[in-house]
Amino acid sequence: MTSLLDEAERLGRDELEALQLERLRATLRHAYENVGHYRAAFDKAGLRPDDCRTLADLARFPFTTKADLRDNYPFGMFAVPEERVRRIHASSGTTGRPTVVGYTQRDLDTWADVVARSIRAAGGRPGQKIHVAYGYGLFTGGLGAHYGAERLGCTVVPASGGMTARQVQLIQDFRPEIIMVTPSYMLTLLDEFERQGVDPRTTSLKVGIFGAEPWTQEMRREIEERFAIDAVDIYGLSEVMGPGVAQECVETKDGLHVWEDHFYPEVVDPFTGEVLPEGAEGELVFTSLTKEAMPVIRYRTRDLTRLLPGTARVFRRMEKVTGRSDDLVILRGVNLFPTQIEEIVLRTPGVAPHFQLRLTREGRLDALTVRAEARAGAGPEQRAAAAASITAAVKDGIGVSVAVEIVDPETLERSVGKFKRIVDERGGR
Ligand code: DLL
Repeated sequence: MTSLLDEAERLGRDELEALQLERLRATLRHAYENVGHYRAAFDKAGLRPDDCRTLADLARFPFTTKADLRDNYPFGMFAVPEERVRRIHASSGTTGRPTVVGYTQRDLDTWADVVARSIRAAGGRPGQKIHVAYGYGLFTGGLGAHYGAERLGCTVVPASGGMTARQVQLIQDFRPEIIMVTPSYMLTLLDEFERQGVDPRTTSLKVGIFGAEPWTQEMRREIEERFAIDAVDIYGLSEVMGPGVAQECVETKDGLHVWEDHFYPEVVDPFTGEVLPEGAEGELVFTSLTKEAMPVIRYRTRDLTRLLPGTARVFRRMEKVTGRSDDLVILRGVNLFPTQIEEIVLRTPGVAPHFQLRLTREGRLDALTVRAEARAGAGPEQRAAAAASITAAVKDGIGVSVAVEIVDPETLERSVGKFKRIVDERGGR
């Protein structure tokens, strides 16, 4: 096994931290010298890059937010001349300007390396075939997975998202061992296998590498059982790189190892910004350690998780992401994340793993309706029991009342990529 690890994965903790400090100091200098935003932000805080003498000193430096990226649209955060930028990705952004990110050739190489490392940690090996059903284009999922898979020495099938019937056909004909796709789109594929009369447990697939959206242990169990595969988690965000910032190892499935030789994680209190100790839940913050085109210093991801010590690798782990602060629903003073509903819905007999959350306004109060789909064959009694059981579990477990509707099979919208769990019908607020 050891021989399969790359050099950085074989470092001792002390060696890793020394490498991180050296790279961190270089990154702070690079950002300060080449990006107006960072120079102004550091100056305002009365800090110079060299004031960072230990890894803990990073906490003195200012955060970077999505708003900072938007304010510097399109290329103001780039730290190299435009002609050195080899690729640009962008997030659509629900409102206003998209968030733009850039990569030099060396950044693209680093990215391919960390994705290759991720696929290997997931159990992938050179010579295998990988079906990539993350979207190709400005989204980092498709191309990020693609070049990493090639870097590892795999054969890539660049399926991208959509055309679900054809995806199923390709999986049957090309016989890939690995699939990389959002977990919600994997469920759409599951339906299509069944529609075509193919038992999903009989495919060539052995491993699924799922990310780009939160998913729960219950979802892992569902996908693993229905497809007879190992399902592991991959995390990343375009502002920091794309997929491959952190990856779960197939042998332990105990959270995602952050590839800390390239991305330095902190977890902070989302309200005060104070750095929290290992094990405490808060907002994940990343500082890039090797990026050239667009270094990021203390980027606030809005993703909630906790940091844990390494297990299968020397790198620290992050727990599966509970949710984004943007997806937090506050119902009569109670905080609720879609993942909490996912856990409940997927444990409930008679309902399929398809659900959506409808937010409405009743008078001055927000109300939430959980719409879940009945499994084929679930009769009226079983549906009523399922609705009652979900209502009770939400009330007992989360402490708030919600309405539950069990709808007919195949009636809820299906995912084609990143799935939007919350349908907000509250209107102009
Ligand atoms: O979603 C990159 C990616 C592609 C990751 C494919 C994994 C696989 P963005 O579009 O910038 O980049 O969205 C980043 O998606 O801040 C999280 O909120 C969420 N996210 C990504 N991976 C996970 C995951 C890509 N494994 C945002 N679990 C992040 C939970 C995830 N949330």
